Amino acid sequence: MNYTKEDFGDDFKWGVSTAAYQVEGAHDMDGKGASIWDVFANTPGRTLDNQHANETCDFYHHYAQDIALMSAMNIPNFRFSISWSRILPNGTGTINYKGIEFYNKVINFCLELGIEPWITLYHWDLPYELEKKGGWTNRDIIGWFCDYVAVCMKAFGDRVKHWMVLNEPLVFTGAGHFLGIHAPGKKGLNNFLAATHHAALCQAEGGRVVKDFLPNSKVGSTFSCSYIQPYRQTERDYLAAKRVDALVNRLFIEPLVGKGYPVKDFKLLQRLEQFVKAGDESRLSFDMDFIGVQNYTREIVAYSYYKPFIWARIVPATDRMVDITAMKWEVYPECIYEMLKKFDSYKNIKELIVTENGAAFPDVVVDDKVYDHQRTKYLQQHIKQVLRAKREGINVSGYFVWSFTDNFEWAEGYQPRFGLVHVDFKTQKRIVKSSGKWYGEFVKSRADNSPWSIVNSP
Ligand code: NOJ
Repeated sequence: MNYTKEDFGDDFKWGVSTAAYQVEGAHDMDGKGASIWDVFANTPGRTLDNQHANETCDFYHHYAQDIALMSAMNIPNFRFSISWSRILPNGTGTINYKGIEFYNKVINFCLELGIEPWITLYHWDLPYELEKKGGWTNRDIIGWFCDYVAVCMKAFGDRVKHWMVLNEPLVFTGAGHFLGIHAPGKKGLNNFLAATHHAALCQAEGGRVVKDFLPNSKVGSTFSCSYIQPYRQTERDYLAAKRVDALVNRLFIEPLVGKGYPVKDFKLLQRLEQFVKAGDESRLSFDMDFIGVQNYTREIVAYSYYKPFIWARIVPATDRMVDITAMKWEVYPECIYEMLKKFDSYKNIKELIVTENGAAFPDVVVDDKVYDHQRTKYLQQHIKQVLRAKREGINVSGYFVWSFTDNFEWAEGYQPRFGLVHVDFKTQKRIVKSSGKWYGEFVKSRADNSPWSIVNSP
């Protein structure tokens, strides 16, 4: 199937995404307080080769250059996040006006160049001062978070129309509070369940705060998701896949849309009850203007006797003779179509937006060029599946590539490069990769005879 950008319609939003901790650097500059990621990544043994994002792409000082580059690449929408501890160094209380000033400069420069800013309020970098009080496991987080959201609304709400409350809550609760492989490095079922319930409440309460201040804004929240399939056609693998699907794809969206936690398909979630207080059930739901779908791959799941609680294991893509990315994730473009279909199947979903999709590959710089044809192909194939969903009547209205520039990939450090733009982390030099050139030309193209306008995707 060939396609052009015009097949998506004029209103379709094309963009790129980043996140504060992954790109900003300037970790202790101009009054910024430490976040849990500052502390975690600077603790030996937590990340690949002990890498941290103290400097990373130094977006803090290169924002104007990067936004100008984005504009030169024709990219009309920019999703980025606010570092909570840059504007509230202690998490609550005193405002750091230098932090507000930084985001004002970013927002204003975007608008000046005709780029629409989309802001994620929480992309995993909790102020460390709040972590000292229990962080996501302390129910007081609801008040702290709502106050922080209110500060953002007052500071930026006059210019920013699109807001996302949380980024991928399952990842910061699961990796950060159960497995201990992300900040804050907590482990165990109780930490995970407490963080989960409080994050689920914050996602809805945060949405309400945005709408109270800005009734005409568009508010959403974003969800990680993977298309889950059973390894064998057996009852045990099928049920294992159902449990993993409940955990990975349904845990946060279902309470938001008023269905409660998916306890029926993953009984262990009943234990969330110990954290539920009177009135929580209705507080968990909120009518978002859009849902951010963040998908990269699918997972094949088998029953496992050795994995307590979930009794399931992921069959690694490296054991399955399939194409993989530098993250060892399978390249399986249909997954994004399947996930859009799944999220669309909930009642009352107004709009779906792919707020992240992209791939890491081992890029090489030759003569100041990066010819990353695998990434271009990955994007073309996934965009085609988004169109397939749209043609079937699913209301998907945007697509954002992860990521604009190479950046700090959490526990994996700088090894995986996801950018459309290559970054030399020593010199801060930027090189637009061939995938970035393709994406920019594609989003600008009209259905004429230009070589960019028609994508002949396999
Ligand atoms: C999900 C996260 O939101 C983002 O921070 C991360 O870098 C990408 N996916 C790639 O793993």
